Order: sequence, then C-alpha cells, then structure tokens
Amino acid sequence: MTTKNIRNFSIIAHIDHGKSTLADRLIEYTGTLSSREMEAQVLDQMDLERERGITIKAQAVRLDYIAQDGETYMLNLIDTPGHVDFTYEVSRSLAACEGALLVVDAAQGIEAQTLANVYLALENNLEIIPVINKIDLPSADPEKVKQEIEEVIGLDTSDAVLASAKTGIGIAGILEAIVKKVPPPKGAIDEPLSALIFDSHFDAYKGVIAYVRVMNGRIKPGMKLKMMATDKKFEVTEVGIFKPSLATIAELGTGQVGFVAGSIKNVKDVRVGDTITDAEHPAAAALPGYRKINPMVYCGLYPVDSADYDNLKDALEKLQLNDAALLFEPETSIALGFGFRCGFLGLLHMDVIQERLEREYNLSLITTAPSVIYRVYRTDGHMLEIDNPSKLPPPTEIDHIDEPYVKATVIVPNEFVGAVMELSQEKRGEFKDMKYLDTTRVMITYHLPLSEIIYDYFDRLKSSTRGYASLDYELTGYHTSSLVKLDILLNGDPVDALSVIVHRDKAAYRGRQLAEKLKSIIPKQMFEIPIQAAVGNKVIARETVRAMRKDVLAKCYGGDISRKRKLLEKQKEGKKRMKQVGSVEIPQEAFMAILKID
Ligand code: GTP
Repeated sequence: MTTKNIRNFSIIAHIDHGKSTLADRLIEYTGTLSSREMEAQVLDQMDLERERGITIKAQAVRLDYIAQDGETYMLNLIDTPGHVDFTYEVSRSLAACEGALLVVDAAQGIEAQTLANVYLALENNLEIIPVINKIDLPSADPEKVKQEIEEVIGLDTSDAVLASAKTGIGIAGILEAIVKKVPPPKGAIDEPLSALIFDSHFDAYKGVIAYVRVMNGRIKPGMKLKMMATDKKFEVTEVGIFKPSLATIAELGTGQVGFVAGSIKNVKDVRVGDTITDAEHPAAAALPGYRKINPMVYCGLYPVDSADYDNLKDALEKLQLNDAALLFEPETSIALGFGFRCGFLGLLHMDVIQERLEREYNLSLITTAPSVIYRVYRTDGHMLEIDNPSKLPPPTEIDHIDEPYVKATVIVPNEFVGAVMELSQEKRGEFKDMKYLDTTRVMITYHLPLSEIIYDYFDRLKSSTRGYASLDYELTGYHTSSLVKLDILLNGDPVDALSVIVHRDKAAYRGRQLAEKLKSIIPKQMFEIPIQAAVGNKVIARETVRAMRKDVLAKCYGGDISRKRKLLEKQKEGKKRMKQVGSVEIPQEAFMAILKID
C-alpha cells in the first residue's frame, strides 16, 4: 500500500469523555474484530486499567476501512495514556500521527485535560477533528460545546462530528473525516530508515517489542538496526501490526505503524521517543523531541514481613521488565529495615505499582509518604538531589533548598472560584491567571509547589468543588523555598520513615496535626507512647497514646471458643500491616498520615 492511503491518528480527550468507547466502536465498525471477539474496551488491556476505568499505557490498532470513494485505507489508531503522569508518552504518541480526534463530552464541555492534550497535538502540527460525543445524553448541549471549542481553543467547529460512541451515531462520519482531513504520511521509502518509538512492552517469547511509526525507509527481518539515543544495536527477527493482537507481516514501510522484535532484552534500551535507524546506513539525525524520562515522585516500599524482602525485589524486577519509568534501589531505614526507594512518574503511576505488587505478587507492604526531589545547596557549594526527607543534611550544612513547581490549570463552574483560590493560596500557590470559558465556567492558573499537589491538592479540590473541578499540571522548574525537616519521635526515638519536608511557616501547624493524627492511628499498647514532632532539636508538638487497660480476650472470658477465635483473627488481620518500630507497633496508615491532615 502506498502512503497515500495511510492515515495515522490518535484520540485525545479528558478522562471519561468516551475515548475508549469510541475506539471500540471504530474497531467494531471496520470489522477489525467481530463483536464476539471483542472484549469490552479492547484498547485498555490491563485489568487495573479496566477497574479504574482509565487508560494508562498507549496501545495501537490498525483498522482497514473501505471509504465512500471505494478505496481501502489503512487507519492506524494510536491510543494515548489518559493521565497527567504520562504527558511525555502522550506527546510521543501524537508525534507518530498526522491527525487527532478531539473528543469532548457534549454535556461536560472542555476540561483541563482536553486543553492539555490539544496543546500537545497542536505542538505536533496535527490536523484536529473535533468530535462532540455523548449527544444521546438528555443534558447534551453540542452547540454550547462547539462554541467553547471555537472560543477557547480557536478551532473551527463547522465540520465537527456529532457522535454517540455509546449508540453508534456519527461513527461513519468520523471515519470519513479521518480519510478526508488527516493528511497521508510524508516520508520516502528510499531514504535511510528512521522510525519513532512510541511505546514498548516485554514479551516472554519475543523479548522487548518496540512500537514504532516508520518515518522514512522500511524495516524487514534480518536488518541490523540501532537505537540512536542509547546506541544499542539489534537484529530484527520479526515485524508486524496490531490487529490489535500482534500479527506478523513481511515488512513495515514508510508511514506505517507496527511493532519490531529482535534481540532486545531490556526495556530500558527501548526508550519512548528514541529513533530506530539502520546500523549500517544511519539517518543523518534523530527525530526531534526525545527526552529521557525522570521520575518525579519517590517513596519507600518495605515488606511488612522482612522475610519478604527478596520477593519484593523479584516483583519489582518483573514489573520493571515492562516499565522503563519505574526506578528502584535498595534503601535501609532504621525504623523499617530493608526495603527499596522507588521512583515514579507521578501519583497514579505510584498507586498502580503498589497495587500490582500487593495484588499480583501477594505482598504486604509498608509505603512511606511520597516525596518530590529537592535540590539542596550546601554551604560547601555542592548540590544534592534529595528524594528522601530523612536524608536531608543538618540545617547548619544547608545554604538553601529548591523545590519543583508546577503550572496548574483548574477548570470549574463560577461558583467555586473562591474555593479554588482559597485552597491554592493555602497550598502556597501563586495566582497567575483567570479566564472565563463561557458565562458559567472559569479556567484558573496557579503556580504551585509539586509537593503540595502530591499531598492532597486534587482530593481537596474535588471535595471543595463537589467533584466539578478538573485539574492538569506541568512541571515548570525549581524555586527556592524556606523548607525544614519535620521529625517524629515515638517513645523518644526518631522514626526516620515518618520524617517529612515542610515549609517553615507551616512546620508548627503540620507538626501538631501530624502528632494528633498519629495519636488516633497508633493503637494502644501495653505502655504509654509519647509522640513528639520536632524541627531540629526543638519539639513543637506532643501527644500521648495511653497504655492499654484491657486484654481483648477479657470480655469473652468463659465465652464460646468460636467467638474467641474470631477476635484473635481480627487482631491478626489488624496486625498484618503493623510494623514493629523499636518497642512500638505502627500501622501502615501512620506513614501516610501526613497526606491526610490539614
Ligand atoms: P479514560 O480511559 O479514562 O481516558 O476514559 P475514556 O475517555 O476512555 O472514557 P470511556 O470510553 O471509558 O467512557 C467513560 C464513560 O462514558 C463510560 O461509562 C461510557 O460508557 C460512557 N460513554 C462513552 N461514550 C458515551 C456516549 O456516547 N454516550 C453516553 N451516554 N455515554 C458514553
């Protein structure tokens, strides 16, 4: 097939506006899978994704479509991850396309993620086709949404497709629009090979599989290829397309989307955004936009039972086979013993990994509160990057500390503007801008420390706006802040895993809140437990967990045995997530308590 009949496109949308449902309809309509073969939402393959109802990893599928002009077109749909943690992956998936369907919920209108994704698509010069979805809903107002798209994004909506991914309205129109409006790929088959990697996965039989878009040249089995950023070479054993399962073909030509398998063992060698070229006749330059991804959020993961350390290590290694963004290294905590410091792209990424470790690998874990990376400038002129609060040098050795900031965009109905501003101010935010999207909704921009976002900004934003606010943010850089380490002492001993870095002005307040919270979380034990919060040598708050008076079994003295067993079971259940720290037993929630105060 010549490139003339190829169309490469993505679907961009805010969470829940119907991206996956629409992808399913397109797959069904083009007969790529019969409805019998079609499992619900084929593009979201991981169980966790299905459960949480969000798309985490990008996937791709090739649709063969006979258009109204009678010609057969090869449509490559590249799905994009629907979460702010994966913005870079989204941008690379978009770079593999010439066009994008912009799906907007007809009842909701533009949300924060809609804008973030549109800007990424515009940066990549994509042809954007607006699709107003969910027009079957009684509350749908397609005209209003069209107007919003015109005014806020500046896109012409006269040709916007009105659709319902649920009932199938508009699906034919969307396919025709893709054929007519999205330009065919450029590039030349006789140029040296350059192919963009937009995703990868590890297959137990084939090794690492790179998902690519061929920009110039072709890829065939037997060729010797090279990845330009990592300089890794490999021989191609297989190429193919996504139907959506992998289907082997003879060669991938210019403009096509597919997979490449070869002698590649490590996903870290196949980096999203890197360029694959011919090892013997390399392209003159790599494709633009490559960036090495770095984790933004770190936390400690410790097995509740220290005998599980090796199992945790094995599990992390297995997960890393498929996830180049997951970092981990051994860490020792005085309180928690041997575990790992793990780095994630963001909070969702962190939650997903933790859940998989517990669910798929049956591990019981203690997780410490997430931390951002602080840049600590020491008085001797050296700079340290600190991802663990307990590693902060003593105050006398610190000249100043910089922390990461983000530009946060919040979209809310008018009546919640006050609530958003109050919350953002409290979170040390600096107001930047406010713009009316229409007469009822407002877009507010703030500069905020990332650490405040990962605490509880989003949860509190949702609860103070009755769930109406949508949030998107991007890292903007580092700024100096007046930060101190807040330590927690239990029974007089500092517990390193409970230390947090906080703003100096908030240390006293947070210290008091944290001590109170810990008092409510730490169960009574046989002796009294003083809880102290301290900055340096100065104790700023103190609470006491009183000693236990009664034995749990006391009240079933003489009672029946099954009741006694039940109580003991219950106690054991509660113990599962307890960690013995010195003489005190601390439950898992204690390590997350900092996230739950304010
Ligand atoms: P992420 O995977 O998180 O990015 O979400 P998504 O954009 O893929 O949304 P998804 O397709 O999962 O749809 C979200 C919800 O909206 C689901 O409950 C769908 O059934 C529903 N939905 C999707 N399209 C339509 C539609 O046209 N009409 C109606 N009434 N509901 C729809």
